[in-house]
Amino acid sequence: MAKSQWIVGNWKMNGLVADLDQIEALSTLLSQQSRNTPENAPEIIICPPVSLLGQAVSRFGERAIGFGAQDCHHRTNGAYTGDISPSMIKDLGAQYVIVGHSERRTEHGETDALIQTKAQAALSAGLHVIICVGETASQRNSGQALKVVLSQVKASLPEGFGDHHLAIAYEPVWAIGSGRVPSDGEIIEMHRAIKGLLVEMAGEEKAAAVAILYGGSVNAGNAQAILALPDVDGALVGGASLKADSFFSIIAAAPIKASSHSD
Ligand code: PGA
Repeated sequence: MAKSQWIVGNWKMNGLVADLDQIEALSTLLSQQSRNTPENAPEIIICPPVSLLGQAVSRFGERAIGFGAQDCHHRTNGAYTGDISPSMIKDLGAQYVIVGHSERRTEHGETDALIQTKAQAALSAGLHVIICVGETASQRNSGQALKVVLSQVKASLPEGFGDHHLAIAYEPVWAIGSGRVPSDGEIIEMHRAIKGLLVEMAGEEKAAAVAILYGGSVNAGNAQAILALPDVDGALVGGASLKADSFFSIIAAAPIKASSHSD
């Protein structure tokens, strides 16, 4: 069975109101292409800063792009200054949220346990969730990459994950914003291992429902090769998602792949 890929743009702390024009431009490029788009075209998602999320949804929410936030709190409301809850994100009309990005793990001290609680809360609020995992350079250099990432996956995934629309983004910390990407073999090995763990945790069918994305220095030049690798179900894109042209090139590079399970 063919499975559509997820192409997710993470704008991070970038973008002012004028930059919504990039989404307008992307939307135009997508509509020009849509005559030739097969049924299972990629699922396109943009996660702008939350300051732009409401406007993005109201201007472009009817088009072929889904919208999400870059983080959420694990509670619905309360005395949590500066935080945004999953139900607030949902209330804006957005459908997705990223949790556990390495920049949050590092700069805000987020743990797997907290990320799991956030993911659980987001799913309960009816959002689709993208959970990020990834090893540091020193963890990879000391041969710990698989162990670290699999333990993050295990501890960050919420219960019943296979019943939801959920993705895991494998993002080596050393590849984010650096222009360096792992070798094909390293990506294949990690994605296969994550897939194997999901099967162990939830069985073939539920594991197959989880998309495993690659993130870290994906750009218009390397997207096609990365997205064609086995068990790569899409990409989480930072810098190259900020401009319509480069993000569109990545979307256009997404292949239609047979899913790797036996249906
Ligand atoms: P990058 O960021 O594409 O700029 O490397 C990816 C991410 O951090 O999600």
